[in-house]
Amino acid sequence: MDQKTYANLIRQAWEARKMAYAPYSGFLVGAALLTPDGSVYRGCNIENAAFSPTNCAERTAFFKALSEGKRHFSAIAVVGGMRECKEDEIDYVYPCGVCRQVMAEFCGEEFVIVAAISPEDYRVHSLKELLPEAFGFREGEAKP
Ligand code: THU
Repeated sequence: MDQKTYANLIRQAWEARKMAYAPYSGFLVGAALLTPDGSVYRGCNIENAAFSPTNCAERTAFFKALSEGKRHFSAIAVVGGMRECKEDEIDYVYPCGVCRQVMAEFCGEEFVIVAAISPEDYRVHSLKELLPEAFGFREGEAKP
């Protein structure tokens, strides 16, 4: 994947962040998920007064794509920060453990996770790096 692909994905993640519903934490997150056919699914975090129903931006993007029949994924870009934060206060946001496990269900070890500050400033990781020894059924094993 080249720099242009990453930059485009990061821009879309910033767009997705505008839709975040995060009145409890004030922490707004956006994600953009790329499939091998070039489609991009955007997601934002969606919080809830009861807290536990909260959905992260990454899972929102995955569930949108999965519910439309997508089963193959190439990369996801993630951006985030407090609602009122200044540009120089933005830091890299990494997917939580639950989102990493969802990725492991549908993605190979080489799935790319881009933790970004801007289209020029980002870190690229593989899923294997961020979730080594993931729990899951091995290839060839029947899924229940
Ligand atoms: N959050 C995400 O959407 N993605 C992450 O990778 C980390 C956390 C959300 C969940 C919650 O709405 C807020 O950020 C604060 O934890």
